[in-house]
Amino acid sequence: MIQNLIPLLLVAMVAVGLGQEAETAKLPTGPGFDPKAIVGASECTECHTHSGAVWEQTVHHGTITDMPRTEKGREIAKKMGIRRIKSESLCLDCHATSHWEDEKLKPSSGVSCESCHGAGMGWVKLHGEFSGKEEGQETADEIARRWKASEAAGMLRPTMIADIARNCVSCHVVPHENLVNVGGHPAGSDFELVAWSQGSIRHNNFYTKGKENKVASIERQRLLYAVGILAELELLLKAVGTAEGMGDYAKANARRVSTLRKKLATAAKATQQSDLVKALEAVGSLKLSLKNQPAMLEAAAAITISLDNLAATSNGEDLAGLDSMLPKEEDYK
Ligand code: HEC
Ligand code: HEC
Ligand code: HEC
Ligand code: HEC
Repeated sequence: MIQNLIPLLLVAMVAVGLGQEAETAKLPTGPGFDPKAIVGASECTECHTHSGAVWEQTVHHGTITDMPRTEKGREIAKKMGIRRIKSESLCLDCHATSHWEDEKLKPSSGVSCESCHGAGMGWVKLHGEFSGKEEGQETADEIARRWKASEAAGMLRPTMIADIARNCVSCHVVPHENLVNVGGHPAGSDFELVAWSQGSIRHNNFYTKGKENKVASIERQRLLYAVGILAELELLLKAVGTAEGMGDYAKANARRVSTLRKKLATAAKATQQSDLVKALEAVGSLKLSLKNQPAMLEAAAAITISLDNLAATSNGEDLAGLDSMLPKEEDYK
């Protein structure tokens, strides 16, 4: 008797859980770090001059000054009923790093260090001081503790590859139905994590003291590629899975799911890596119609597991099958 009830209860619980998620259809846009904990890029570039020199040349750096002056920017704002882009949190979420001042959200700069590495207040001192010693004098234990404490305080490090990828797509998928359907904002970028991280934004020049700005190793490129696909699929499935109507938003994001699952199929076949194979099983034959939203959210949850597991267990050596799929240097953004 009890044995029969348990599966029923589980089904009921899952159904309720999904229902709630679908009802509160708002997905977070942008990284969502606490603006009260933002220290500002100038604090970072005091020590990270080489990172800063690259960043200043990027589209990210200029976006909050340049975008509001464009015709398209004004047009989107008008359709959204927004008078001042620079004080509208919806736009600031993705086009700026913002801090809190006079009870208001204010842009500190364009998309900057802390939009990608986490709001710094809790870890900025901690991570860059060598446990109170001279550089090179810490024990291995002290180094490990310093990084662990920095991560716990919200630092997003390059090693945290799944979170890095999720953070990029929180802006580069645009998970806001009205902004796309009513505002006419692009439904997202034609994103691919290797090409988009190794071109104009690349700043692997800190540990080389500015002597060289290195392209990620081939093993890391494979991981970036695979993790990038899964992170984007995870969010896209949530976006389509919670869309309220079949407008441009749902259509564009569903098309994007189709494109990415073809890439995933090729990647899974070429590597036979178990997380990629499982992720493909979750989305391979998924119907992308609004009637099927609960299944999309279930597929997103399965992708979450594959993504976290891949990032935690792979060093890229098991992904050599991806090499022919990786973008070439001339295609870097
Ligand atoms: C006081 C100097 C200083 C400041 C200020 C500083 N950093 Fe650092 N940062 C360092 C040092 C030193 C390291 C390397 C530590 C090591 O070699 O163990 C580092 C490493 C890093 C890394 C690489 C971490 C890794 O896993 O290899 C990132 C990312 C980073 N800092 C981001 C930032 C950001 C973002 C800010 C501003 C919020 C900032 N830093 C401010 C000194 C600083
Ligand atoms: C969820 C993140 C997100 C939000 C919120 C957001 N944007 Fe964007 N926006 C982006 C991204 C990512 C791009 C780059 C798209 C691409 O790759 O072409 C972009 C591009 C743009 C462009 C250039 C479009 C083009 O066709 O060239 C304009 C203009 C713009 N955004 C205005 C706005 C305005 C105004 C707001 C507030 C009402 C806003 N955005 C809110 C992420 C966002
Ligand atoms: C658009 C997101 C983004 C922005 C903005 C950004 N970073 Fe990074 N940062 C990354 C990523 C991703 C990596 C790892 C890149 C890779 O693996 O090729 C990284 C790597 C680093 C590293 C390690 C570099 C090395 O030599 O290995 C440091 C230090 C760092 N960032 C500091 C900064 C600072 C300081 C700023 C602001 C001036 C900044 N970052 C802005 C995403 C960003
Ligand atoms: C806070 C939101 C945000 C985050 C996080 C973010 N981006 Fe962006 N990114 C944008 C916006 C907005 C634009 C477009 C700006 C514009 O056109 O004015 C953009 C533009 C770019 C461009 C320039 C594209 C071109 O057409 O030249 C690259 C490359 C890029 N992002 C890569 C990345 C990567 C890689 C990551 C993660 C490591 C990342 N971004 C994280 C918001 C973000």
